[in-house]
Amino acid sequence: MLRFPRGMSRWAVTAAKQRSTLPTPVRVGHAWKSSVATSASRTQAVDEIFQMFEKHGRGDYVGEPISQEEHALQAADLAVRSGFGDEAVLAALLHDCGHLMGLDITSERMDDCGVANHEDIGGDWLKELGFSDKVSTLVRRHVDAKRYLCCVKPGYLESLSEASMTTLRFQGGPMTPEEAKQFEADELFKTIIAMRHWDEAAKIPDKEVPSLEAYRQLIARHVDKQLQRCHSSQS
Ligand SMILES: [Fe+2]
Repeated sequence: MLRFPRGMSRWAVTAAKQRSTLPTPVRVGHAWKSSVATSASRTQAVDEIFQMFEKHGRGDYVGEPISQEEHALQAADLAVRSGFGDEAVLAALLHDCGHLMGLDITSERMDDCGVANHEDIGGDWLKELGFSDKVSTLVRRHVDAKRYLCCVKPGYLESLSEASMTTLRFQGGPMTPEEAKQFEADELFKTIIAMRHWDEAAKIPDKEVPSLEAYRQLIARHVDKQLQRCHSSQS
């Protein structure tokens, strides 16, 4: 029997997550402009991503015999091969960034299974660094796929590892059938489900994949493009 965070019903958790995970209505509009105003440049974004992995990337990926950086790089490599596009690759690479940079900004944990609310922490941070709404939203919503599959796929809930079961409790538990139906209609549904598969598969010890350096230009180009869009919409 699943239990949910004390004082917070599943409905309350879900409602709070839905409020905080809705994509910005206008992609290059006022909300986005205000959030990106603190971003200095593509250089800052690249530096902060690399510094984050340098500082926390060698920590173990919760309950698995690989590091956080290895997990991120394997997920990104699977995304590259999937053909879902650059934003999906960046989201896969950075989907757990809240578990890393979150260590420096909050003491809240999911028992001993990582930073609580890491998906929102990571999504917000990426948006402030200048990443697109799509990348930020994919990161923010990547845990929804697990909640969805627990609802619709027989045996999926029971197949979760102990660590994944623990984090599920903090993430609102399985979706209800109504929530699952709503999720299926989301424009990012297929990408979020794909991200879950990459996430699950990115746990192979000593697998050879491209290093973080292979993504430097992709990050820089992406942030640069977002900043240019921001500036051109302001002028
Ligand atoms: Fe992950």
